[in-house]
Amino acid sequence: MKNVLIIGCAYPPELPHFTRGLAEAGAQVFGVDQQPETHLPSMARRALSGYLQVDNIFDEQATAEAVRRWAPVRFDRVESLWEGTVLTAARVRELFGAKGMTHEQVTRFRDKDKMKQRVSERGIRTPRHQRALAGKECFAAAEQVGYPICLKPVAGAGSADTFRCNSPAELEAALHKAPYIPEFNIEEFIDGEEYTYDTISIDGNVVYETMSWYRPRPLVGRSTEWISPQTVTLRDIHAPHLEGGRALGRDVLKALEHESGFTHMEWYRKSDGEAVFGEIAARPPGAHTVDTMNFVSDIDLFKRWAEAVVFGRWTNDFERLYSCAIIFKRAQGSGYIRHIEGLDRILASFGEHIAAMDLLPIGAHRRDWVKTLLSDGFVFVRHPDLQQTMEMADRVGTDLQLYASY
Ligand SMILES: Nc1ncnc2c1ncn2[C@@H]1O[C@H](COP(=O)(O)OP(=O)(O)OP(=O)(O)O)[C@@H](O)[C@H]1O
Ligand SMILES: [Mg+2]
Repeated sequence: MKNVLIIGCAYPPELPHFTRGLAEAGAQVFGVDQQPETHLPSMARRALSGYLQVDNIFDEQATAEAVRRWAPVRFDRVESLWEGTVLTAARVRELFGAKGMTHEQVTRFRDKDKMKQRVSERGIRTPRHQRALAGKECFAAAEQVGYPICLKPVAGAGSADTFRCNSPAELEAALHKAPYIPEFNIEEFIDGEEYTYDTISIDGNVVYETMSWYRPRPLVGRSTEWISPQTVTLRDIHAPHLEGGRALGRDVLKALEHESGFTHMEWYRKSDGEAVFGEIAARPPGAHTVDTMNFVSDIDLFKRWAEAVVFGRWTNDFERLYSCAIIFKRAQGSGYIRHIEGLDRILASFGEHIAAMDLLPIGAHRRDWVKTLLSDGFVFVRHPDLQQTMEMADRVGTDLQLYASY
């Protein structure tokens, strides 16, 4: 029996599924998170053989200490599937001498400067970039990098406080919009489409790979409320226009010495076809992309991931049957959801291609769309043909509307 510790097992909503996957794969699972055991989602609770509640799961040292004092068994593996806790897991892993990536290795996936430096040292195409303190330094850095630039916080997430600036005047305006950010990254602005390259590896060998397409680019979709952003997990990942992205992804994994588990990379495809590195994380993509990946092949990657990392097992006994899009909806107005329009029509015209949906119910308060991509709910559509998947996804974007008021 393998003993596996999962750091973070309650939130976000994927984590109970990964916890469940570990148990179904045959591991004895122990969890760490911040809520009392009685508040854990039942799926996670059922899967656990032991649980430790900590005050602050992001505090690496304190969490490692608490785990050391508590540990009821010796852990063979220590896993985390969420960006905020990957380093905590590495700390705990080192404490137990458990298999898996070291703190130094994981840091390459967490610190964007170190990441990009290493990736560009290996000759992989990354945007030209410079770090700069807010203020004058930014203007000098932008001159060096060359306009248009992308201005973003050194420690950014969710496209927050990220701007395209075409001139010093626009840079000045952008800096005014984010006066609380002390330090920025200034990057060459890459025009193009944005894709992911997501993998599961065993000991440095990629056993599963997939790609998703962001429609529109996150910078646009995350800053314009009326847009219903889409992530489309692609059936045909061997299409010629994606080849450059896959090759880039493989090179990046080697450069960063990734070992086992999920990775989630974002890359740009310029109109001339060039693939450019965006960023990479040592965890699965969030925002229900593991679900779209599952819907592409009717598989359970929560469990397959567990089998891969814990037992080194993988079987390619599935096919890519569909492209699957998730469409995130934002209500019009603020306050509470009052009514939903267009759902009947959508269900009548392509209900059989809707794999799942989860819209806020009437009476629920709107979510903060700036903070969470999940927004006020989402719909999954899938079809063997990409074009048809996109047409249905766009109809969910335009024809389905939620209305809110106080
Ligand atoms: N150099 C660039 N050129 C063009 N667009 C960029 C560039 N850097 C960032 N962007 C845009 O800003 C978005 C957010 O940037 P990035 O992914 O680097 O940071 P993040 O905020 O940590 O991301 P996430 O939303 O994945 O948490 C990207 O998805 C892209 O749309
Ligand atoms: Mg990103």
